Formats: sequence, structure tokens, C-alpha cells
Amino acid sequence: MKLRYLLILSFVWPLLAFADLSVNDLTADHLRDPLGIDNLQPLLSWKLQSNMPSTMQTAYEIRVAKEGQSSSLEWLSTGRIAGDESINIGYSGPALQSGRHYQWQVRVWDNHANVSDWSPSAHLEMGLLAHADWGPAQWITYPWSEDKNQSQPSPFFRKKFPIKNNVLRARLYITALGLYEASVNGQRVGDAYFTPGWTSYDKRLQYQVYDVTPLLRAGNNALGAILADGWYRGNLTWFNQRNLYGDQLALLAKLVVEYRDGSSEIIASDPSWQVSTAEIRSADIYNGELQDLRLRKMHWDEPGFSASDWGPVKIFADATPPLVASTAQPVRELEIVKPIKLLHGPNGESILDMGQNMVGWLRFKAKGQTGQQIRLFHAEVLDQNGALYRKALRSAQQQMEYILPDAQEHTLQPHFSFQGFRYVQVDNYPGALNLDDFEGVAVHSDLPALGHFETSNAMLNKLHSNIVWGQRGNFLDVPTDCPQRDERLGWTGDIQVFTNTAAFNMDSAAFLKKWLTDLAIDQTSGGAIPFVAPNALGRLKIKSLPTSVYALKPSATGWGDAITIVPWALYQQYGDSAALVEFYDNMKQWVEYERAGASSWWMTWLNYHNWFDTQRRRDDKYIWNGKFTFGDWLAPVPVSSAFVNTIYFANSAQLLSETARLLHKADDEKVYAQLARDIRAAFQRRFTTSPGLLEEDIQGAYVLALQYDMLDVQSRDKAARRLNELVQKNGNHLATGFLSTPHLLDALERFGYLNTAYAVLQQESFPSWLYPITKGATTIWERWGGIQPDGSFGDDGMNSFNHYAYGAVGEWMYGTIGGIRPLQPGYKKISIAPRPGGDLTSAKVSLQSPYGLIGVEWHYTGSALSMIIEIPSNTTAELVFPIAGASLQRDGKPLTVGDGIERISTNSENKAVLDMGSGNYAFSTN
Ligand code: BGC
Repeated sequence: MKLRYLLILSFVWPLLAFADLSVNDLTADHLRDPLGIDNLQPLLSWKLQSNMPSTMQTAYEIRVAKEGQSSSLEWLSTGRIAGDESINIGYSGPALQSGRHYQWQVRVWDNHANVSDWSPSAHLEMGLLAHADWGPAQWITYPWSEDKNQSQPSPFFRKKFPIKNNVLRARLYITALGLYEASVNGQRVGDAYFTPGWTSYDKRLQYQVYDVTPLLRAGNNALGAILADGWYRGNLTWFNQRNLYGDQLALLAKLVVEYRDGSSEIIASDPSWQVSTAEIRSADIYNGELQDLRLRKMHWDEPGFSASDWGPVKIFADATPPLVASTAQPVRELEIVKPIKLLHGPNGESILDMGQNMVGWLRFKAKGQTGQQIRLFHAEVLDQNGALYRKALRSAQQQMEYILPDAQEHTLQPHFSFQGFRYVQVDNYPGALNLDDFEGVAVHSDLPALGHFETSNAMLNKLHSNIVWGQRGNFLDVPTDCPQRDERLGWTGDIQVFTNTAAFNMDSAAFLKKWLTDLAIDQTSGGAIPFVAPNALGRLKIKSLPTSVYALKPSATGWGDAITIVPWALYQQYGDSAALVEFYDNMKQWVEYERAGASSWWMTWLNYHNWFDTQRRRDDKYIWNGKFTFGDWLAPVPVSSAFVNTIYFANSAQLLSETARLLHKADDEKVYAQLARDIRAAFQRRFTTSPGLLEEDIQGAYVLALQYDMLDVQSRDKAARRLNELVQKNGNHLATGFLSTPHLLDALERFGYLNTAYAVLQQESFPSWLYPITKGATTIWERWGGIQPDGSFGDDGMNSFNHYAYGAVGEWMYGTIGGIRPLQPGYKKISIAPRPGGDLTSAKVSLQSPYGLIGVEWHYTGSALSMIIEIPSNTTAELVFPIAGASLQRDGKPLTVGDGIERISTNSENKAVLDMGSGNYAFSTN
């Protein structure tokens, strides 16, 4: 009976579905159902789903309802608004109110005269919009004094309180100076780690909002919170300094309970709370954690616990940082990695091999004796003797210690520290070590995965996997350079080069906008952009010669240019022009800072070349000479500072001008376009020996000059030829650093050297992208030679095995092998132009774009090429078929216009160009 019912359904389904149009995947400020935002005009986005080809939205309607006591909702609607915008639409309905919960829905009309149903409801809830809304919560701390020079036992706070029956909704608003972990009635609140996240705490401190309705019960309840040092006062920077933001931990919390009868009550941090210490004896991001489980206070966060020996808290009046809602996805436990092997070190040490370099912690079971102390040491690689290679960690201890409370089995993991590791040495483990009792937990910002990359070449697939793992490990609340040594800082240059790849791998919009706010807030009044954001280096307290350097040299080109490059990338990848509006002034101040940094009159006159050369004197205004830069960092052959500086100065001026055009700032558009032209002209006079040939005759110089369009159009081919020669002479090995590597393959491909690009990409000998894989790499290395061909290590003082910068090649892999690039911001118009090469016979690449899934799959069978393409609704695409002169078929029949294909033409290379609408396509050559 049931079967017949299903069969009937499946028979009529195609007919019913004929005109199917629906809306889903609603987001606000790039987040799904955010709880606690403080943007009054959140950016609303949705995706259309249609089974008709060439579907475009022609109109939309948004309706919103405030949730109250009654179950019926009062919807307020925008009415039908004509247009095809479906992403990043600024909310403009009735004013959103502090702490209120809203539902919203969308319906759309399309160009086939269909109208969708209302989408499923999405939710958004406002945080506490005004400081006064936190009342009566007060900042509380502990009354005891501490040794501020080292990590101290964590304070545990608790509050017992009664609750009536019939709770409708309960929210916990909470933040801390330091890190916090909250619990209600013995259960952890939420699954976020390292809250409240890292910002320049005195300028803005994030809070989080949790739905704790299911954790409360009628009668007595208890609220608990544990604090630890974190970024706030733990060890930070390689100068081993502590207390960079303050030296006292404190808590602010407000629980709002709403009842079904319309009444409500508030339980807030105040003098009635109690505080004590327990098993967490020390916790530090770099160094690890010590848990003495004999000191546990069982059930301390439950109402029945007797806290008679707990002390009263102290009000912390000094804490007045501006509070802001968190705007990005939280850090969570996201992947579980099982160890693959138990190894033994040179002295018989037990070492777990996780098989994957990862960031997070080891969770394991242990059953021993009271007082038994288990110690874990973490490292990314083993040395040639099979021992942990810990030198590269510099002063970071990456050590976990657990002291067992009894003879029972316990599951152990840290609360407030993360480690970068593939290998874990386990000392003093009770009994035989069984791999089943151990698991690695990868912890990072919970960004939705967007990209998929798979080819017929296993090495390239591994490279892609290493890039993604590098992003996981270094996207932990802020984008960091590395996750293991005493650094883990938001280096601007690293994310500047990696942003486009990151944006393809994962939905990085909210995460990077949060970080841009960190960057912008730490820009100096003179426009300098710090090396790292949040700018921990600018806060070093102990002044010595090496630390003062960071006060004297606050900015570097290629690094500081993150302020122009990252917002522009977010606009291209996610269509988010709000980021450009928000950071426009910062971009402009940076360009003006660069302009002021170009040679001063006295530098110009000091240079004897200038005495008889007026042109040279004039050009000096555009050459960023004698200023600090990290240059083409870690390149085997470095490019000069003035060369690199000048290129980034031109590029930022150019991006600023283009941004000004978008924002209708006509004067700025003109001024900065002219500035970019002047810089380029001066660059050509200063750095070329003859048209197309550079004084600095090295790969990195040609790559940067070509990709940033520093040369005039006529001489580019010659420069590209020279680049190709240099690469080939080097046996198809790259010789580039942080800044030029991301553009090497683009420069070769763009000027007709696709084969060389593939040869470099598929190169396996040192130095190359694949060489580390031949040495067992499972993440991207900081140096091409982290492990040298003879097995020895690169510079111990700077040898991270998890640095994403060189992983920026991912953008080219998605964009050229997969052929997916945005032709219009946010992929409103998509370029599909895969360019097979090397030894690849197939590729399957996709991107969950802001409009929906873009898919490209190609296969060679002999010389015949087949291709499957998916284009999301409300976009158009231009496909360039990779084979010149190919006669194309669609679904096995000769290709014609119609059914999604709007135009067929041929380009100058005799390749078929198809203008297409949304839909699914299968093409093949004969
Ligand atoms: C970091 C880099 C960073 C660099 C500046 C290093 O210590 O790890 O990735 O960009 O300093 O050159």
C-alpha cells in the first residue's frame, strides 16, 4: 500500500515540479540564524532554487515578525520589490530592538512568471544594543591577589537562583576579560571555545548570547563560569610578554528569563556571586594547561552544591571596555582525527602519530592511580632520531598535564589552550596505551565549507587538502600566521595573500569582516596599518631594543595593503560592498600614508643620482624608497624594498580609485586613478632597463610587475617571456616568496605559458608546492625547505609546518583547473573557463557561491573532452570551452541556442564561448 503511494507520487512529481521555484538558505550578515547581533541594518541574503533553465529573480518580498508572548506572528512586509538582488540587501524594515527575536521570510518572482512560496522562516536576534541594557549586571572578579608573572589557577564563579515554572525563553549574555566557559546546572553553555574571542579589548570587547532555555528547570538553578588568561593576559608574542591588555580577569553576565505569563526576571553578575578555584591550575594559549583533578569541585555549577567555603566576589570597577556583539562564527570542535600509529622515540617515549598536522587538542581516556601525572608534549614533526622536533616551537611549551583524582576512568582534554601538532608524546600514561582511547579534536572557527576540489592527480588533491587543513588550523578566531610557536598572530601579509583562496574554501565573509574591524581599529592616526591585528605587537610593555622596533616601524607594504586588498576580495567573492563602505576611510588613510612614505625631499637630495636629473627627482614622489618592508618574504632570491613598496603603493591607489567609483566618490576616483598612473610611470622609468626588462632580473620581480600591471601594455609580452625563461632555466622550479608566489601561475598563464604553469605546479623536487608532500607534509609549510632534501631542518627559529601563505595557489587551482572565477562581484556573472593541462585527465570542482552551487566537472577520454556544468539560479555564466575549434555536443546532440544557452560565439583563439543562464549542462566533443 505504502509502496504504491510512493510510486504514484514519483510518477506525478515531474509534472508538479515543472514550475518549481523556491527560496532557501537565508542569512543575515553572512550568518545563519544569528543570535545576538548589533547591526541595525543586517545584510540579508537568500538563494533561489528552480528546475527551469535561465531562471532570474524579477522581484522579491521580505516579511519580518517580532516574536512576542503570543504564538501568532504579526508580519510586516516590504511589499513586492522589483529587482534581481538576492544577496547582501541591507535590512530596512521597522527598527530592530535590543534583545528582541525576529523571524523573517522571503518570496520571489522569476522571469518565467512563477512565484515561490514563502521560504522557511529564518531567525535573527538582536544583542544588547545600548550599554544600559546590561543593567544591573556588574563586572565581577575574585578578591585574592596573584603572581602576575605566570598563569594562575582559574577562578570558578557560581550563582544559585530560583526559577518559576513556564519559561518561554532564556538568554545568557556574557563576556569576560580573559576567556570564559559558562555552564548552567552542570551543563556547558553552548559549544563555542575561546570566547569572547580576540579583539583589541580596550577598544571593543565582544560578548556572546546563548539560548539557555532548555538548561533551566523550575526550582533552584545554578549558573557557573570559569575564566582563564587567553589572549587577554596570557603569554603573547615571541617576546614572551604577559598582561598585554590587562592583568586582572573579570566576568560580566546577564541571564534574562522570560515567562509565558509575560513576566521576566534577570540574574546578573553582582556581589552576591561566589568564587573559588578548582582543578585548572594554569592555562595558557602557547604553553598548555595543568589540571589537577584531585582539586575538582564536583557539581560546583549545580544548585545542590554546598559553596559555604567559597569566597564572595569583588566588583571590578576598572572594566569599562565598549561591548560589541560578536559578528563571526564561533570556534568549535569540528573534526575528529584518530591516531594512525604508536611510535617510540629514541629513549623509548610513546609518541602518537595523528597522521595529520592539526590544531586543537588530544582527547583521551585514562584510568590510573590517585596523583598519577600524565604529561603530553605536542609537535608538528619528528626529528631525524624520531624524537619530537620542539625547537621550532621556540618558547611555546605546548604541554598538557593531568593529575588523576582516583582510580576511575577519566576523559581528559583542555579548556583554554590549543596546540599545533601531528605528534603527541604521552609520558607516564597509566597501563598500556591503546589507540582507541585517543582522538585528536580539530578546533577552529566554524565557517561553512564552500569549495570542493578533486582531480585525477593524487598529489594535487593532497595539496588541496593541505591548503584546507592550513586554513582550519589558522582560522581560529583571527587569521594567524601559524598555530604552534610563540607567535599565532594576525599577520596582515599572510591573510592578504591567502584571502581569495580562503574565501573559496570556506565562507570567510563574517570572519574576515570581523578581522578587518580589528585591523581598522588599530590603524594609527597617521594611517599606518599594524603588522598584526589585533595589534599585540603595538602593546609590548617591556621596552627593549628589539621590541621598540615594532613601535618605530609600524607598517610594511604588502602587509599593510591588507586594508585595501581584503575588502576588495570580499566584494569580489561575496558581493559585499558594505565592507568597502565600512573600510573606505581606512583604505584612503593607508594610501595617504603610503604617499607620505614615498621619498622625502631630503632623501631625494641626499641621492647624488638626483642632482642633475629632474625627472628622477620628480619620480621620487612615487617611489616608496628607504622604508621598511618584509619584501618578498622568504623568497630564495629577494626583490628590493623600493621595488616591492612601489608596486603595492600603486595597487592600493588603484583599488581605492575603483572603490571610489563604486561608492560614487567621483573626485577620489579621479585623484587616485591619476596617482596610480603616476606611480606606474615612475616605476617604469626607475626599474626597467629597456621596455619589458627589469633591472631586478628575477622571477618574483617579473611576477609582481606583470600581475599588478606595472608595465605598459606593449612591453608585457616581453617581460612574460623573460619570466618564462627564468622559470624554465630554473628547471621549472619557483624562486618566489610570500608576495609573488600567489601570482606566479597567473602571470605565466595570462601571457600564454600555461604549460610552464602546470610544470611548476606539478614539480615535485625542491623547491616547489609538491616537494613538502614528498616529505610527508599534511599542511602547507612556512618555508619551501622546512625539511631539506637531505632531511635536515630549515632555520629552527622560524620553521612552521602550518603556515597558509604559500597555499594561496589554491585560488589558481580552483580558477584555472576548475575554471571558476567571478566575472561580476559575488559570482552574479560567472566565468567558467577550465584550462586542463599537465597530466590531468579529469577534475571535479565546485563552489557554493552566494547564489548557489557552481559546479564544473571535466573528463578526457582519449582526446575527447566531456564537461558537466551547473549554474545557480539568478546568475548568468560565460563558458569558454578549452579546446580550439572543437565541435561541441550537448546531451549527445549538436549544440544549439536554447534551453539555457543564450548565445554561441567564437573567441580570438577559436574557442567556443557560450552565454548561459542557470541550469545543468552536459557538453562533449566528438
Ligand atoms: C610570521 C610571518 C609574517 C612575518 C613577517 C613571521 O614571523 O610568521 O608569516 O608574515 O613574520 O615577515
